[in-house]
Amino acid sequence: MKKFTITAAKSAGFCFGVDRAVNLVYNEIENCSKTATLGEIIHNPNVVAELGEKGVRVISSVSEAFPDEKVIIRSHGVGAEVYRELEEKGISYSDGTCPFVRRIQKIVGQCSEEGMEVVIMGDRTHPEVIGIAGHCVNGANVLKDSAELECFLKKNYEKYKKKVAIMPQTTYNINMWQNCVSTAERFDGVQTFDTICNATSQRQEEAMRLAAESDIMIVVGGKHSSNTVKLFNICSGICGVCFHIESPQELDMMRIPKGVSYKSDVRIGITAGASTPASIIKEVKNQMSEIMKNLDEDFNFEEALNASFKKIYTGNRVKGYITAVNNTEAIVDVGTKHTGYVSLSELTDDPALKPGDVVKVGDEVDLIVIKINDAEGIVQLSKKKVDALKGLDELAKAKEEGTILEGTVTNVVKGGVIVLANGVRVFVPASQATMRRDEKLEELLKQTVKFKVIEVNEQRGKAVGSIKAVRSAERDAAKAKFWETVEIGGVFKGEVKSLTSYGAFVDLGGIDGMVHISELSWDRIKHPSEVVSVGDTLEVYVKDLDKEAGRISLGYKKSEDNPWVKFENEFSEGDVVSCKIVSITAFGAFAQIIPGIDGLIHISQVSDKRVTNVKDVLSVGDEVTAKITEIDSEKKRISLSVRAVLEENGSAEAEE
Ligand code: F3S
Repeated sequence: MKKFTITAAKSAGFCFGVDRAVNLVYNEIENCSKTATLGEIIHNPNVVAELGEKGVRVISSVSEAFPDEKVIIRSHGVGAEVYRELEEKGISYSDGTCPFVRRIQKIVGQCSEEGMEVVIMGDRTHPEVIGIAGHCVNGANVLKDSAELECFLKKNYEKYKKKVAIMPQTTYNINMWQNCVSTAERFDGVQTFDTICNATSQRQEEAMRLAAESDIMIVVGGKHSSNTVKLFNICSGICGVCFHIESPQELDMMRIPKGVSYKSDVRIGITAGASTPASIIKEVKNQMSEIMKNLDEDFNFEEALNASFKKIYTGNRVKGYITAVNNTEAIVDVGTKHTGYVSLSELTDDPALKPGDVVKVGDEVDLIVIKINDAEGIVQLSKKKVDALKGLDELAKAKEEGTILEGTVTNVVKGGVIVLANGVRVFVPASQATMRRDEKLEELLKQTVKFKVIEVNEQRGKAVGSIKAVRSAERDAAKAKFWETVEIGGVFKGEVKSLTSYGAFVDLGGIDGMVHISELSWDRIKHPSEVVSVGDTLEVYVKDLDKEAGRISLGYKKSEDNPWVKFENEFSEGDVVSCKIVSITAFGAFAQIIPGIDGLIHISQVSDKRVTNVKDVLSVGDEVTAKITEIDSEKKRISLSVRAVLEENGSAEAEE
C-alpha cells in the first residue's frame, strides 16, 4: 500500500506585513490608479510579474515616479529622506511599511536622538536594513553576526561611553540573535532590543520541527528573498533532502521519477518564505501529491530519489545558486544531493576581496567541479577557473585584434609581474613591464595598468602580456602629436633630466629639449646647477626647432625679468643711486646698481680729487653714492660718477 504524507507548515506563505503591502497595491489597481512600487513589492518574481501585467511599474527611486502616479512603499520600509523627497515633490503615496519594521525605525530614531550608537544585526545590503539606517540621526553600524559584534564592542565600547543600542532586522536568525544577546550581556550598559518579527521566528521554529520530522523538505520562495534563503539554510541543516524552489514547475527539475513507487513511508514537508502567495504553496502541494501518487509499488523511493539527482563529475561545468556567504567561502546549491563550497581562493585571485565582494546570496554562477566527496556529501567548486576560461577566450581575441586591456598588478614574481585581467593571471616579463631598466617593478604593485596580450596558451591556461608595448605606443603617439603641433614660442612644462656644463636637458613628455646655459639666467652663471637641479619642473618656451633632426632649443629666462629692462624702467640719466663696488680695474671701478646691472665709474670720476690708483680710494664691497651720467641703451653701458655727487654736495654746502 502506497503511503506518503505531505505537510505544509501553517506559518508558510504571506506574513501579515507582506499581505498588507500586496493588498495596498491591489486596492490601488481596483481604484484604477496609476501605480508604481518603490522597489519590488515582495521578493517573489511570480507576484511581481503578475502585478506588472496589471500595469504596476517598479521604480527604484522617487525621481522615477510620474506626477499622477500613486507610489507604494513596500513592507521593507524606506529611510526618512525618501519620505522627505516624496513630500517635497508632492507625490501621492501609500505606506506599506510593515508595522514591525516601523517599530524598529522608531526605536533607532529615538536611540540615535538620545546620542546612542545604533547597531543593526543583519544584512547591510537588505532594503529593510538600509531603510532602518536611514532613520538614524548619524547613520548606523550594520553587523553580520556575534563575532563581528564582539569585535565592534571591544573596539568601541569605551569610545561610545557604553551608550550602544543593538537590535536585529526582522528576519534575523533567532539562534544567531541569542548569540548576539549573550555577547552584549558581557558589556555593561549595552542595550538590546529584540525586534525579530514574530512571523519570522514562528516560521523558522515550525520549519525546524517540520524538517526534523520529514524525509524531504521543500522550501518555496524567491531565490533573492532573504527570509526564504534563511529558511532553506535552516531546513537543509536538519533534513538531508531539501529543495529551494520558486514555483511548482521546478518540481519537475527535481526529476522525481513518475510511474514508480517506494517501499517505505515518505514524509514530505513544505514551508515557504514570507513573500510566497498561498496559491503557489497550494499548487506545490497538489503537484507533489500527484508525483507521489504515480509512483510504482516496488520502487525504493530513497534509491530512486538519489538516482534522480543530477549527476556531476570532477571537471564538469555546472550552474549553482549561492545560498550563503561567509568570510572564507560561499555555499552553493548545484542541484545535487551535495553541499557545494567555493573557497575564497577559488572565487578570486584578488587578495583585496572577500567572498561577499565577489558573490551575493541568490546569485546564479557558473562553476567547475574540482573535487567530490560523496561520503561527506561535499563538492568543491571553482568560480575562478570558469572566469579564467572565459577570460582566456577574451584574451585570445584581444591578442588577435591587438586590443589594449586593463588589469591590476597583483604580484611581483621572479622575472616579472602578474596582472589580473578578466579573471586570468597574465604574466608580464620584467623586460615588458617598464620603459626603463632602472624602474622598480614594486612600483607597479596594486596599480591599474594597460597592456597588450602577446601570447595565449589555452591548453595551459596561461597568457603573457606587455605593458611596455602600450606605453611605447602612447609615447610614440605623443611624440608624433608634439612634432605636429609644436611652434616657436610654444610654452611647455617639463622635467630637468640632466645637466651639462653648457646647459640643461628638459623632458617635454618623451622629447628632450635643451636650455643653453645663457638661457637659464639673466645673471652670469658658471654652471646650470646654480639655477636648476635634475628633477625640477620648469616652464620653458621653444626658441628654435629642427623638426627633421628632431632638435629643439628652449628658453627659460623671461624677458620681463631682464634686468636691463627693469633698470631702464626705474632709472634715467642724472639720477643719483646707491651702488656697490663689484670689481676694480686700472681705468676705474664697476658698481652694481641692481642685480645684473653694473655701471662703470671711470678713474677720473671716483673722487673730486686727482686719483692715480683707484684702489687708493675704493675697495670691492664699498657702498658708494654715484650719479648716472650716461646710459647707452644700444651698447647696454652705464657711466657713473662719484665725483659729480661730491662736487654738487660741495657747492651746495658753499652756498649755504
Ligand atoms: Fe512584517 Fe514580519 Fe512580515 S516584519 S513584513 S510581518 S516577516
